[in-house]
Amino acid sequence: MKKIYLYGNWKMNMTCGETKDFFAKMSRALEDESISGHLGTELEIAVFPAYTSIASAMAGKGRVIVGAQNVYFEHKGAFTGEVSIPMLSELGCTHVIIGHSERRQIFKESNELLASKLKAVLDAGLTPVFCYGETLEERESGETFNVFREQLTQGLSKLSKDEIERIIFAYEPVWAIGTGKSATSEEAEDACKYSRELISKLSNGAERIVILYGGSVKPDNAKELLSMPDINGALVGGASLKAESFLDIYKAYV
Ligand code: 13P
Repeated sequence: MKKIYLYGNWKMNMTCGETKDFFAKMSRALEDESISGHLGTELEIAVFPAYTSIASAMAGKGRVIVGAQNVYFEHKGAFTGEVSIPMLSELGCTHVIIGHSERRQIFKESNELLASKLKAVLDAGLTPVFCYGETLEERESGETFNVFREQLTQGLSKLSKDEIERIIFAYEPVWAIGTGKSATSEEAEDACKYSRELISKLSNGAERIVILYGGSVKPDNAKELLSMPDINGALVGGASLKAESFLDIYKAYV
């Protein structure tokens, strides 16, 4: 069975109290052998809370990875409102999401900025979860693969082949995020297959590249999506806010 990455991006949700409750439920659910028996070689679970809830998550996380949703590339200084890599490392974070479409669209993060963030995160020995994907307008005008080429080649421009292999990629079509309208498994597979070929040309080969799909993943569409050969896992938003629905995504797959 292929290894599945089940990653939950909480976005701007979940207070410290709610985070504590989530992990209390999660640790009870993980006593269930049908999940815990797979954790490790066949299943990797990660949760990305808001900065303010990271410490609460760390306290209750058990075998779940806890990461951050964003980071700045400078290590310290006059950057009001930003959080640095050493600050996240000190909390125990090993993973950081970079380039989520909400960061690109709402906060205007450019490919150039994201390239600097990727480089800094990899230099510090952390694992970036690098998001890319097209808007509905771009898809409808036949631009999808051009968008991948631009976001991936520019985003990865400061990295060596070995560094690129340490990234976990997340294909997230913007039109499928938070809309309840997931890409079909064929659409997601086509996109991940194409990007795997593209990334493999920039690195040492296709097999070691990990690509997640994100955008309205729920227990009822998980099996089809996760069974696709070029999809290694899911980056889940809404359905990751409750421990039960989050784990049901994996249960639906196995
Ligand atoms: P939804 O699962 O809520 O569509 O969000 C996906 C996402 O943006 C994960 O990063």
